[in-house]
This record gives sequence, C-alpha cells and structure tokens, in this order.
Amino acid sequence: MGKIPKIKDEKLIVGLDKADDAAVYKLNDNQYIIQTMDFFTPIVDNAYDFGQIAAANALSDVYAMGGEPILALNIVCFPKNLDLTYLEDILKGGADKVIESNALLAGGHSVEDDEPKYGLSVCGLVSPENLLTNSNAKVGDILVLTKPLGTGIINTAIKNGKADKESEQEAVKVMKTLNRDAKEMALELKANACTDITGFGLLGHCIEMAENSEVSIEINIKDVPIINKTREYVALGLVPGGAFKNRKYFANKIYANKFLQELESDIFFDPQTSGGLLITIPEDNINKINEFSTDYKIIGKVIEKEDRFIKLV
Ligand code: CO
Ligand code: CO
Ligand code: CO
Repeated sequence: MGKIPKIKDEKLIVGLDKADDAAVYKLNDNQYIIQTMDFFTPIVDNAYDFGQIAAANALSDVYAMGGEPILALNIVCFPKNLDLTYLEDILKGGADKVIESNALLAGGHSVEDDEPKYGLSVCGLVSPENLLTNSNAKVGDILVLTKPLGTGIINTAIKNGKADKESEQEAVKVMKTLNRDAKEMALELKANACTDITGFGLLGHCIEMAENSEVSIEINIKDVPIINKTREYVALGLVPGGAFKNRKYFANKIYANKFLQELESDIFFDPQTSGGLLITIPEDNINKINEFSTDYKIIGKVIEKEDRFIKLV
C-alpha cells in the first residue's frame, strides 16, 4: 500500500491514510457517500450460506462507518468446470442478504478463475453527525463487542473435518448476522468510535483504534465472548495462519503479563470473517445497552495513552 500515492481532497473525508473500514466522500453538507468492497474464497461448504456470509461481511464496512447501504454490486470469480447451480446458490445467498439490508443489488461483474470467489462492492450513505470512525475513541469510553470471537478457528476446524455440527452452525449464524442492529445501537448510544472485527482479529483492530485515537485500551480477558468449542479447537492446533501473522505483527504493542503465552490468546488474534462491531460508548450511556441485545458485551474501557496500546487484564 505504501506505493499508492496519498490523495488529499477536501471532499475525501476518510481515505487510505486512516486504515478505516471504507472510503467516505462528501456529497454535500448533509450527506456523505461510503464506498467499500470485499470478496473472498468459500469458507463453508454450503454455497447459499457462503453467499450470505460474504455479503454480510461486505455490508459490514458500511455499518462500521455508521451508514446505511443503498446500492450493491456482485463481484464473482468462478471456474468454468464447476457446477453452475453452486454459483446460483452463492448469488441467491448474497442477494437475500442485500434485500435484508434494504439496499439494492443492481448488477456486478464476473471473471473466470481457478478458485471461486464472491463478494460485493457496496455504496452507502451517512449524515456527517452519524459518521463513525476508528479514530475518535475517548478516554473513559466503554468498549463493546457485538459478536463472539472464534470464526477463523472454527472455519479451520471445518476445513480439517474436525468441527462438530453445533459449533459450525453457531459460527455460520454469527457470520451471517448483519451488523445493522449493532450500528443502530452505536448511533443511539452516541458512540465515539467504531470499527468491525475482520482479518486483524480483536487485538489488531483494537490497536488500530487505539493508535488512531491516541489512547490506550484496556480489555478484560474473561469478558470477551467466544463461540463454544473454540478453545477445544485451539488445543487441537486448529489455528489459521493469519492468527500467527497477527501475533507477530501486533504482540509488541500489547501489555498482557503472561496471557499471550497461553493457548487462549490465539483466539484474540484470530482473523474473523464478518465479525462484530467494536464500539466505544460514553460511560453515561452504557447502562442502556441491555435494551438492545444481550449479545452485545462490555469487554473493557478506553484509558489514557500508555507505552503499549492494549492492556489485557
Ligand atoms: Co472493516
Ligand atoms: Co473490509
Ligand atoms: Co463488466
């Protein structure tokens, strides 16, 4: 990314420099456009599930900026020798999620490729006062995570034929869930910062938020929600390569006493597919969180900047 020229324009509200979830462009004084795209290779066997997951994942970056998706386009790569009903099921899954989001699926583009891939380019709208970025967390804010961790590890267990039906179903359900309701909660509770948890795992995205906001973040290890059985799969060594990359890249920015030596810490670096929103909410508003969903968990707080961005306690 370092070779891409940095663009400065007064209409570009969020660009490449902030490592945020999507680009944001000022249309006029009351409306910003959010633009994003995301696509990947199948992570579950069921094509319809995969389509829904890939679409929920792509739509998530619009929600993470506080916006509403309005328009989506398919991105498809497909091998010429694969059964076309498989592709139809993927596209049906994607289309159903876009309908659920109230956006319009209005076209797309496909290319022949050895490995199938699917995703969306999504355009959304947000008003300036609703725009949420990862760079505005305030000292004293309470940290909320809206989905449990473990999807990367469970996907690895699925690929290795080691996942049981129950944990597979739970992970699929988590990944298919739109972050729309979580975004509504963030806006109603006047969140200061927001991002979604994807490839860098909980700790990677937390570090980005802390770094961009010039604060540190304290996480209570035992409060972090984790999908059932994830720990068992970690103990079997079913950890995706991305978790080790994240650990290598981020570990020196975390103060954790001995926790990072424990097996469970792999879950905190686990790359998530269609993960939840990570939101910082002013302390005065946090007691209203139970009015939304019991799935939204308080996992820590924003503290004054220390020499490490994350403190695991
Ligand atoms: Co994102
Ligand atoms: Co993304
Ligand atoms: Co075309």
